[in-house]
Order: sequence, then structure tokens, then C-alpha cells
Amino acid sequence: MSTIRAAVILVVITLCVGGAAARATDPVDVRAMQAIAKSTGADKSLGWGVKSGDPCDGTWPGVRCDKDLGRVTAIDASNGGLAGTISGTDLSDLTYLLSLDLSRNRLNTATGFPEQPRPLRHLTYLNLSSNAFRDMPHYFLLAFPALQTFAMDDNEGDMATGYFLVDLVRCLALRTFSANNMALYGELSDYLGNGTIFPALERVSLAGNYLVDDVHHDWGKNSKVKFLDISNQSFGGDKQLLGRLDFVAGMTDLVEIHVRDNLFDGPLPDVSGLANLKVFDAANNNLCGRLNFPSGVAVNVDGNPGVGKDCP
Ligand SMILES: *[C@@H]1O[C@H](CO)[C@@H](O)[C@H](O)[C@H]1NC(C)=O
Ligand SMILES: *[C@@H]1O[C@H](CO)[C@@H](O)[C@H](O)[C@H]1NC(C)=O
Ligand SMILES: *[C@@H]1O[C@H](CO)[C@@H](O)[C@H](O)[C@H]1NC(C)=O
Repeated sequence: MSTIRAAVILVVITLCVGGAAARATDPVDVRAMQAIAKSTGADKSLGWGVKSGDPCDGTWPGVRCDKDLGRVTAIDASNGGLAGTISGTDLSDLTYLLSLDLSRNRLNTATGFPEQPRPLRHLTYLNLSSNAFRDMPHYFLLAFPALQTFAMDDNEGDMATGYFLVDLVRCLALRTFSANNMALYGELSDYLGNGTIFPALERVSLAGNYLVDDVHHDWGKNSKVKFLDISNQSFGGDKQLLGRLDFVAGMTDLVEIHVRDNLFDGPLPDVSGLANLKVFDAANNNLCGRLNFPSGVAVNVDGNPGVGKDCP
């Protein structure tokens, strides 16, 4: 009896030790996180690695792990005083990363990130807003095939929409695309309005860029886009996004649309098929026609001299 009990205890102990060993942080992630801590200055600014070399033991602010896997799953280093480099190799080694928030730091392309990372197959959230990124390599987005939320607002940017967005078509799960105020120039990409390519895309924000030309009349048709902001496109003080707002009528899932401070002309769009519309913001354009919006829609058409009159 006592031998059996001893055997059982031994088995239990073995299982416990075995289980604990499986939960130790993967040495690949440990090495990668220590390298990133050093290269971005997060060892100094956030104290990563100061109390312990293990990024998963709770002493690394903003780092979360899956304890069962022993892998790093989320990094929130927003406003973390980061500068310098994140190498593509170090980033790619974090193969279980789901979420990466590097917003509000001083990272820029020249200092190394993003060198083309190997694909991070689980990454769904990437926020690079408020840094100094410019001239991103166009293949950069290929590294994030599972992306659902991408934000790169308020960067130096200076990129053509076509060039930058061509690889986005591989991100089939994209729900939110936010690239306000980052000197994107060129046409509003047809991809973003195509519900076949992006069946889950709900939010598109491109305010304060240099978009030109007119928006194709079936842009967004049958898409799931609920929120669209393409307001305030100008370059050197000249507005250059123009044409008609006819495309709005086909965007049947729209809840909010912001097209203010552009050169759209022609009649106000027919929104009778837009059952969920709550906000129509088209101030400071050249639209015309009688106001005919359902009650419950917040409408701003100030600064359109032809509104309230019949179109010529
Ligand atoms: C990205 O980060 C900024 C700054 O921290 C935040 O305000 C913004 O909401 C984030 N964007 C998304 C789409 O999560
Ligand atoms: C959307 O993309 C699909 C697949 O690339 C293409 O066949 C289709 O013509 C596009 N639709 C529009 C309206 O551009
Ligand atoms: C409009 O966009 C420019 C960048 O092109 C930005 O500097 C400005 O603050 C924006 N204006 C508004 C009212 O958002």
C-alpha cells in the first residue's frame, strides 16, 4: 500500500514538474525580447529585463504571454519612449504574437524597423501611429497576413497609395484600416472599397492626406464599410479630391461618412438605401440640391453654397 502511494505521489510530482517545465518561456522569445529591449532602448525607458530576463514573469511592463505555451502574445509599448531599431529577425521570432502596439514613440524606418519580417501568422493588431515612419517598403504588409486592425496615423509617410496598399490585399481579415495624416498621395485605392477582397472591412480612415481625382462611382458598393473618413485632402493648400458623391448611395452598410473639406460637386447623394446612416459630414465642398435626409442623421453641409437650392 505504501509503495503504491509512493508511486502515485511520484507520478503526481513528475506530472507537476513536467507541466511547469512546459510553461517556461520559450528561449527563442526570451532572446528576441531581450534583443528588442536593447535595440529600442526599452530596457532603459520601460525597464524591460531589469528585474528579470524572463519577459513572461510579469516584470516587463506591457508584455503579455500565453503561460501554457510559454510564448509572448502581446506587446503594448505605446508611449514607451522607444527609439532605435526593431530588427525583422527579432520580431519574426515572436511567432505567437497577436498584438503589437508601438504607437507614440520615436521609431522611424531609417533605424531599421521594418526590415521585412518573416510572416507573423497570428498578428491581428498592429498600431504604428504617431512615430516618424516614412517610405515603408511596399512588401512590409506581406508580413501580417492575419491582420484585422492596422493603424499608421500621424507619421511622415510620403508614400503613394497604390504602392503602399498593393500588398494589403493579402490581409483578407482586415476590419480597420487607419492611415490619417501621413502624406499618402494618389487615388483612393479601389481595393479598400472592394467587399470581395475585404469582406470584413468596416472602418476606413484616410483623412488629412493628399488623395487626388474623383472617387469611382461604385467604390464601396456591397462592401461592409460602416465608417469612412476621406475628409481634408489637400496639397500645398490646394484641395484635389473631387467629382461626385454618387458612390455613397451604394454603400448600404454606412453609419458614418466624413468627406468634408474637399472639392466634391454635384447633387447630394441619395441615402434612401442607407438604413443605418447616423452621420453625414460633407462641409466645405461644392455640393448642391435640397436636403432630404431621414431624421436621426446628423448632417453637416455648411460651406456648400449650392445646398438648399436646385442643382443647375
Ligand atoms: C493606435 O494608437 C493610438 C495612440 O495610442 C490610439 O489613439 C489609436 O486609437 C490606436 N488606433 C487603433 C485603430 O487602435
Ligand atoms: C473586386 O475584386 C475582385 C477580385 O479581385 C474583382 O474580380 C472585382 O472586379 C472587384 N470589384 C470591383 C467593383 O472593382
Ligand atoms: C488637414 O490635413 C492637413 C495635412 O494635409 C493637416 O495638417 C491639417 O491639420 C488638417 N486639418 C484638419 C482640420 O484636420
